[in-house]
Amino acid sequence: MSITTTTATQGSPDYRDAGLVFPPGFTFGSATAAYQVEGAVHEDGRGPSIWDTFSRTPGKVWNGDTGDIACDHYHRWENDLELMSELGLGAYRFSIAWPRIMPTGNGQVNQKGIDFYARLVDGLLERGIRPVATLYHWDLPQTLEDSGGWAVRSTADAFERYAEVMGAALGDRVHTWTTLNEPWCSAYLGYGQGGHAPGRHEPVSALAAVHHLNLAHGRAVQALRSTSAGDPQYSVTLNFHVARGRGNRAAEAARRVDALANRAFTGPMLRGEYPADLLADTAPVTDWSFVKDGDLAAIHQPLDVLGVNYYSTVTVQMWDGVSPKQQNDGHKAAGGGTAWPGSHDVVEFLEQPGPYTAMGWNIAPEGLEELLVSLHEQFPAQPLMVTENGAAFDDVVAADGSVPDPERLDYLRRHFTAAHRAIQQGVDLRGYFVWSLLDNFEWGYGYAKRFGIVRVDFDTLERTVKDSGRWYARLARTGVLPA
Ligand code: FCB
Repeated sequence: MSITTTTATQGSPDYRDAGLVFPPGFTFGSATAAYQVEGAVHEDGRGPSIWDTFSRTPGKVWNGDTGDIACDHYHRWENDLELMSELGLGAYRFSIAWPRIMPTGNGQVNQKGIDFYARLVDGLLERGIRPVATLYHWDLPQTLEDSGGWAVRSTADAFERYAEVMGAALGDRVHTWTTLNEPWCSAYLGYGQGGHAPGRHEPVSALAAVHHLNLAHGRAVQALRSTSAGDPQYSVTLNFHVARGRGNRAAEAARRVDALANRAFTGPMLRGEYPADLLADTAPVTDWSFVKDGDLAAIHQPLDVLGVNYYSTVTVQMWDGVSPKQQNDGHKAAGGGTAWPGSHDVVEFLEQPGPYTAMGWNIAPEGLEELLVSLHEQFPAQPLMVTENGAAFDDVVAADGSVPDPERLDYLRRHFTAAHRAIQQGVDLRGYFVWSLLDNFEWGYGYAKRFGIVRVDFDTLERTVKDSGRWYARLARTGVLPA
C-alpha cells in the first residue's frame, strides 16, 4: 500500500480519546530548529546562511521578518532548558546551524559554534533530557549556495565533512543523530517552487537537489558512525505527503505525488533504489545522470529510526494539459499545480476540506494514523518516530497573563490519539515530538504564525507556557493521554 487513497475523506472520526496509555519507554519530546529560534546571527563567528540572504530579500518573508533575533535562544538557552524540565520532556529535538560550525561551509571549523552546542547538549543531559540533533534544518552556508547549492554534488561532499566534525565533537553525548530535516522542502521549495531559500525556480535543479540531499544523508550517516565515540542512534526526518486523489485520474494523481514527494526519498534511503515510476514520470526533465556509480549504496544506510513529520493531508487532481484553475489564473502554474516542461500532465493541488489551522492547513488526524500504518506496511522492520506535529493558531493572551489555546490542545489530543491507534495496529512508534517548543520564525510567514506550546512575546522575549503546554506536560509525565 502506498500513502495515497482515492476515496474522499468523510471528515475526521472522533479521535478525542482520553485515558489512552502509551507504551513504556515512549519518548515525549518537543522540537525547534536553529534559524527559527537562535537569533545571534552575527555572533561568535557564525557565517551567513541562505535564510539570512532570503529573509533580507524584499517580498520573500512576511513583514520583512528575519531570524536575526528570533527567540534569542542563543542567549536564553539555559532558561529554555529549565522550561523543558518544567514540561517534563524526555527529549529535545534541535538543529545545529552548519554556518556556526563551518562559517563558509567548508574548511575552517569555528570552535565557538561547537562550544554552544556542547553546552546545550550537556545541559540537556544534566536534566535527563535526550539530545536529538539534526545536522541540517535548511540553513545552508551562503558560500555553498554561491557555488551551486544542493544542485551540485560538492555540497554533499561538504556535508560529509561537516558530519565528521560533529560526530567527533558530540558523538559521545548525542542520543540520536538526524541528518536532514524534510529534504522535500529543501529541494522542491528551495530550487523548484522558490518559496523557500534560496528561492530558485529550476525544475531540473530541484531533482538534482533531491539526489544530492539523499547522497548527503547517506554519506553523513557513515561519517557520523565512524566518528561518534558513543552509541548514538541514526535517523532522518521526512515530511510525507498523504495524498487523496480526485477526478477521473485520481489514482494516477496520487501515485505521482507519492513518487515525487515520498518515494524519491524512501526509495534510495530505505531500499537502495529510485522508484522506476519516479524515473519515468520525470523523464521529460532529466535522465538522472547526476546519480553516479556507488551513490545508491552510499545512500542506503540502516537507520535506527525514521523521523516522520505530519501536519495535514493533500488532495490532488490530474489534468491532461492545462487545468481549469490554471486557465482562470491565466496559466499561472505557481502554487496551483506542477507540470514538467514538455509534459502534458498537470497535477493540481486542490483546496482541502476543513477545519483548518491558522496556516490554512486542514486538520486530519486520520491522515497521521494512515501514514504510520502505511509506512509500517512498507518498511515492517523500521522503527518510526513522529519528529514533528503541531498547529499554529492565533493565540490570545488572557487578562491574567495565561494563554488558553484550546484549539491547539484539541489538535494535539486528536493526533496523539491517531498515533496511539497506529500503535494498537502494530506500528513500532518510538516517540513523538511536538512542533514546537516555542513560538518562532515560521519561515516565509515570519513571526505571524505561532506553533509553540510556549508563547514568546516577540517584544520582550518573555516565555509563557500555554494551556497546551501544561496539558502536554501531564502527558509527558504520565504517559497517559489527559482529558
Ligand atoms: C515543517 C518544518 C518546521 C516548521 C513546521 C511548521 O515543515 O520542518 O521547521 O516550520 O513545518
